[in-house]
Amino acid sequence: MKKSLLFCLFIFISLTACDKKATTSQSITKEVFGKISESETADIFTLKNAAGMEVKITNYGGIITSWTAPDRNGKYENINLGYDNLADYQKSSPYFGALIGRFGNRIANGKFTLDGKTYSLAINNKPNTLHGGKKGFDKVLWTATPIEGEEPALKLTYLSKDGEEGYPGNLTVEVVYTLTKDNALKMDYKATTDKATVINLTNHAYFNLTGNPDNTILDHEIMIHADKYLPVSSTLIPTGKLEDVKGTPFDFTKSEKIGARINDTTNVQIKNGGGYDHCWVFSENGQKMQSLITLYEPTSGRVMEVQSSEPAVQFYSGNFLVTTPKKGTEMFKKRAGLCLETQHFPDSPNQANFPTTVLRPNEEYKSSTVYRFGIR
Ligand code: GLA
Repeated sequence: MKKSLLFCLFIFISLTACDKKATTSQSITKEVFGKISESETADIFTLKNAAGMEVKITNYGGIITSWTAPDRNGKYENINLGYDNLADYQKSSPYFGALIGRFGNRIANGKFTLDGKTYSLAINNKPNTLHGGKKGFDKVLWTATPIEGEEPALKLTYLSKDGEEGYPGNLTVEVVYTLTKDNALKMDYKATTDKATVINLTNHAYFNLTGNPDNTILDHEIMIHADKYLPVSSTLIPTGKLEDVKGTPFDFTKSEKIGARINDTTNVQIKNGGGYDHCWVFSENGQKMQSLITLYEPTSGRVMEVQSSEPAVQFYSGNFLVTTPKKGTEMFKKRAGLCLETQHFPDSPNQANFPTTVLRPNEEYKSSTVYRFGIR
């Protein structure tokens, strides 16, 4: 009798201990990141899962400042381009890791008409508006709520006031970042408005799966499950056509090295984008979650899969990075990172044939994207 009691006690203690071990290894912690003004301070939250992935997110712009992923030997390295301090993000970031809105990507000539009224926006990417204007969602302080649990999460909320950056309607936005047990980062977006407005939210993480920003992404291999893309003008505004990728440098229906055709400027679209800076189209009105892109880095064996409810992804190959300060006087290398910004089509408010980006008072905007890591 005594022996079996002792044995049960042993089992109970070891189960509790290992459960303790499991719960102590996933966590969300908070530190001060820096002062934005006399009255505003940004915090930084570190989310860790039991597998070892760590994601750092500040409530300034909802920016992912660091994101580790394992290579084929289980070595976790930072695969995300960014800075280790707030001031650099405020001074020179090309939207590194940031939440983007009210309207991600471009709006031609900074103008759109909605319900008969024309709205004028800041021209911050001549001659167009880019990523919500001069002070988009990447530059505002979000209210942060850490959520503990088996899959730690960070809820960020923001009220974009009526007229902010020229957009109509008080827009209440909620974004939840969730770090899952199987090394994925989920991004769930929700928004409501009290007046008809336009909305296109995304995240602007720059990826380099080698774990070293001194490398380029040209040897990464990418597969994009899309038969069509949006050709653009010389100022990167879609022409309105949905063009077949077949037979063009935009055909990634089979996995290809990013650098294989990136400099083929005989192709006018490569010339216009200075490489890849285009939207691939997955479905006319993206409702359900679908697997869109697979990115593979051969030296580390890291694989990243992108799933989203959005109908398009802007694949940007970091063509302008060469003008972005890295540390001191050193600049980032051209194409040191790439972005896969899930979204609705650019300039949709001006292109009636594109899926709508109008949100009305009795509707809820909802969008989800997952970046899942594995090895090969
Ligand atoms: C988006 C645009 C690019 C570039 C980056 C930020 O990806 O499509 O042209 O402006 O943002 O630098």
